[in-house]
Amino acid sequence: MDFITASSPSIVIITALAALLTLYAVKISVQCLFSKKRYHPIAGTIFNQLLNFHRLHHYMTDLAKKNQTYRLLSPFRSEVYTADPVNVEYILKTNFPNYGKGWHNYSILSDLLGDGIFTVDGEKWRHQRKVSSHEFSTKVLRDFSSSVFRRNAAKVAGMISELAISNSSMDIQDLFMKATMDSIFKVGFGIELDTMGGSSEGTRFANAFDDSSAMTLWRYVDILWTIKRRLNVGFEATLKKNIKVIDDFMYKLIRNKIEQVSKSKEDPDLSETKKEDIMSRFLDLNETDPRYLRDIILNFLVAGRDTTATTLSWFIYMLSKNFKIQEKIAKEVREMAKPKDENTSFVDFAAYLTEDVLDKMQYLHAALSETLRLFPAVAVDAKICFGDDTLPDGYSVKKGDMVTYMPYAMGRIKSIWGEDAEEFRPERWINEDGNFRGETASKFTAFQAGPRICLGKEFAYRQMKIFSAMLLGCFSFALTDETKPVKYRTMLNLHIDNGLQVRAFHRYESK
Ligand code: HEM
Repeated sequence: MDFITASSPSIVIITALAALLTLYAVKISVQCLFSKKRYHPIAGTIFNQLLNFHRLHHYMTDLAKKNQTYRLLSPFRSEVYTADPVNVEYILKTNFPNYGKGWHNYSILSDLLGDGIFTVDGEKWRHQRKVSSHEFSTKVLRDFSSSVFRRNAAKVAGMISELAISNSSMDIQDLFMKATMDSIFKVGFGIELDTMGGSSEGTRFANAFDDSSAMTLWRYVDILWTIKRRLNVGFEATLKKNIKVIDDFMYKLIRNKIEQVSKSKEDPDLSETKKEDIMSRFLDLNETDPRYLRDIILNFLVAGRDTTATTLSWFIYMLSKNFKIQEKIAKEVREMAKPKDENTSFVDFAAYLTEDVLDKMQYLHAALSETLRLFPAVAVDAKICFGDDTLPDGYSVKKGDMVTYMPYAMGRIKSIWGEDAEEFRPERWINEDGNFRGETASKFTAFQAGPRICLGKEFAYRQMKIFSAMLLGCFSFALTDETKPVKYRTMLNLHIDNGLQVRAFHRYESK
């Protein structure tokens, strides 16, 4: 969807607002001159973001290289952008209560994500965090999710194998998207969505979900979105239709699940069935409000699907560009998994990928972290400041300002990662003993930091390690066209624009 074209009738209004903003910038600069407080340098206005939307993260990285923390002016508030780990630690951890989603993020995100964990603060957040963290730490969910990942990884390997035999090119991001959608759906609902098998209902849902995510991000830069929503025009009208597709599908599943669970309570034979998926576990806690359940599951889908699939895609991209690293990982995988012989089936190979074996794959862990450092699935993450404050760098922020930390820009800043910051070098994560060496969450911000640090970090690494060990243990990968530029598409998560075309080659006889 081309947002710029979709919004072209707004150009005149935008130009007028840009002129007003320029006056506003002058006024702010004069005010700052006379104020005792210091404010971060103004690097531009949000209209610059709009103009640079297709290369938003490059634009923001360039600004961050000049000023690690800077401001952009918007008609409603100052927007502070930081790539400074000390400021990041402060807003995400030290003074956590003063920075949250706030009304601004809630109003943008809640049409799609409702009152889920991603949109709320305070008590509503605390309750969901507590219940969800408990569920995520249970052995039942851990074992169930690992078995789902292994099954789906073997399925993906089977699909890749056929394409490798016919020497066909494939969009591996599309494959990962389908595989992670099926996985998180199974873990969330206990239901096979089967987008990998081409189920039309599943695919329709997945498309509506993708487009809604892209259109929701657009709201951050299109200040006219509330008017468009009220008038039900442009991308807002399409967003509304897509959310209806999502809702119809979700509510149907929720109704079926509630029915299934209540039947199982009446029938002693069925009540023995293991309640492994997240939804059954919430129903067990007597959470039966369909809207609440919809929000919880949808937030998990948003959290767990694109993030993992895009990271795996950038990972394959990096390995296609760095063949030696690819081979080093493949060697580690085969040495640790120890397949019986070279004809081991994909299903058997997946079974070797137990938690103990995955733990030994330290270099793979490093390479995935290195991918996330350079291509963080959540490239920018905005908070709202709830009360006037001064950041550790000595500059002030005002109540209502948007304060955003930028994992994408941070990964490319030399003062944080050294002269080779822009290089893909998994070794930076390995200590002298050859083991993985972590970094503080305020330096490596891909999973956020502080009390709201990603709840699914361990879950995500487990899934990514199972998929990548399976694929690299059995295949090697190369870009279909080395000359074709690979770029991101600006949306809530860092997708590869138009997918990633690769060819796969069998390493052994496995099938
Ligand atoms: C590579 C994979 C992943 C990355 C890079 C990632 C990153 C993040 C980030 C940056 C946040 C903060 C977002 C915000 O400010 O709202 C977050 C939050 C969250 N993530 Fe992840 N995530 C990943 C995978 C997952 C998975 C697989 C799940 C679960 C299935 C998950 C569950 C969550 C949840 C529930 C939150 C909200 C936490 C809260 O607000 O308390 N994530 N994640």
